[in-house]
Amino acid sequence: MPNASKSSPKAIPLSPTQILRAEHRQIDEQLNVLSGALRQLGDRGPAPEVLDRIESVALYIDGEMAIHHQKEEDCLFPFLKEFFTPENLRIDARIADHEDLNIMNTKFKQALSECRDLESGKGATFAAQMLRGYGLYIIHLIREHLLKEDHILFLVAEEYLTADQEAEILERFAAIEDGGGQRP
Ligand SMILES: [Fe+2]
Ligand SMILES: [Fe+2]
Repeated sequence: MPNASKSSPKAIPLSPTQILRAEHRQIDEQLNVLSGALRQLGDRGPAPEVLDRIESVALYIDGEMAIHHQKEEDCLFPFLKEFFTPENLRIDARIADHEDLNIMNTKFKQALSECRDLESGKGATFAAQMLRGYGLYIIHLIREHLLKEDHILFLVAEEYLTADQEAEILERFAAIEDGGGQRP
């Protein structure tokens, strides 16, 4: 006799947008880390421990977040194009946000290394202010971006994508994760 209590329900795979939304919540957590560190940067100046926390978020943007962007740009967005007219630039605008973020993160890391190199004094205070400005801009940019994806693009995906399209997107996600985010 099979023991019914031992049979576990079949796990329902997550949909592409459930995966991306969960990643957005991880990104939110990183933004909280960054905003806390920037507040301390304002109060205490460029203490090494504060700079380390800021650097961990800059590296997250270059690493995990770049993979998240690749999943959106290479896997999900191509399937959404048919639901927007060519004049509707919502998808292009979100890709432009990704590029904007990469540019800002490069400047952010430059400001961070200046902060580390300068001894305390006027120059160090200015470098810390620059770093704080870039950091606040990055937080604003990402928060707006996540809202627009969560409330527009992902809703369209959830409404219109077929099960076959979702399965193909999940396969493409897996290929990106297996390749460590390397673009061919
Ligand atoms: Fe995005
Ligand atoms: Fe996203």
